Amino acid sequence: MNRATSVSTTFAIGGDLLVNRMGYGAMRLTGQPGNFGPYADWEAGQNLLRRAVELGVNFIDTAQAYGPGFNEELIASALYPYPSNLAIATKGGIDKPTPDNIRTNGSPENLRRGCEASLQRLKVDRIDLYQLHRPDLNVPFAESVEALAELQREGKIRHIGLSNVTLTQLEEAQKIVAFASVQNRFSIRDRTHADILNYCTQHNIAFIPYGPLDAHPLKHGTPLANAGGSLQEIGVRHGVKPNQIALAWLLHYAPNIILIPGTTTISHLEENIAAASIKLTNDEMQAASEFL
Ligand SMILES: NC(=O)c1ccc[n+]([C@@H]2O[C@H](COP(=O)([O-])OP(=O)(O)OC[C@H]3O[C@@H](n4cnc5c(N)ncnc54)[C@H](OP(=O)(O)O)[C@@H]3O)[C@@H](O)[C@H]2O)c1
Repeated sequence: MNRATSVSTTFAIGGDLLVNRMGYGAMRLTGQPGNFGPYADWEAGQNLLRRAVELGVNFIDTAQAYGPGFNEELIASALYPYPSNLAIATKGGIDKPTPDNIRTNGSPENLRRGCEASLQRLKVDRIDLYQLHRPDLNVPFAESVEALAELQREGKIRHIGLSNVTLTQLEEAQKIVAFASVQNRFSIRDRTHADILNYCTQHNIAFIPYGPLDAHPLKHGTPLANAGGSLQEIGVRHGVKPNQIALAWLLHYAPNIILIPGTTTISHLEENIAAASIKLTNDEMQAASEFL
């Protein structure tokens, strides 16, 4: 039957951290190029974060590596004291001494150091969702995961997340600890990690696709803003832009997807958040899936 698929607006991360599925990814509120240094217009960044919360966003994604540190500081400076329902997800395990020197370090000592620094910058006693930014090929994966489990036992982390992982790593991690989320790249244009998303859906683990508008992490703009084909056609029918259909498609694709589109402009923020209200029919989902 061709009717709008019913889509939940919320997801409970780890079974108990209830968030709106349209969140916000803060990475781009940093110095450019290289997401390095403080965001040039600190006050505009604060205003954007406050507007996101005002519009119902209660899940914000950041990382120690963004800035590094400055992105978490900006969030705290804009939103602390935090609304009681706001969940902040950060990540550790990547050090960034210069804009183009990105060093993965998933040693237990470095993860602990990173987590403690994030706790301070975010001004919280416990991080809602702490994600391993990327497995470190020089550290046994199990050791990094075990380090996060230890921080969780100590009460410094509420839920554990993983990012940039393979299916094999997910299966290994599941034997060590109950992790609550996976953050891998995924969008209507890049479905390379569909198997990982499916695994998460089956296990009721949140899947947080990064680059939901298929943007390059270090370049500005999204190739989906002016996408043609079925995305454009469906957009015209709904009176919205192709990139909004691309976000709505993700929300319809699986119930455990939480979106964190990144933007530096309030008009784009409003557009992205409005995409959460778009109802796609099964036929539209099918047509959008084939837009490439
Ligand atoms: N785990 C990881 O390794 C990893 C890697 C990369 C990113 N992330 C996370 O994922 C989040 C999202 O990723 P992302 O920012 O790279 O990619 P994205 O959300 O796919 O796209 C962001 C880009 O698209 C533009 N854009 C956003 N909304 C738009 C709109 N409505 N119309 C036109 N252009 C629009 C933005 O420019 P404007 O500023 O002009 O709007 C920005 O350049 C990040 O903030 C970060 O939290 C994680």
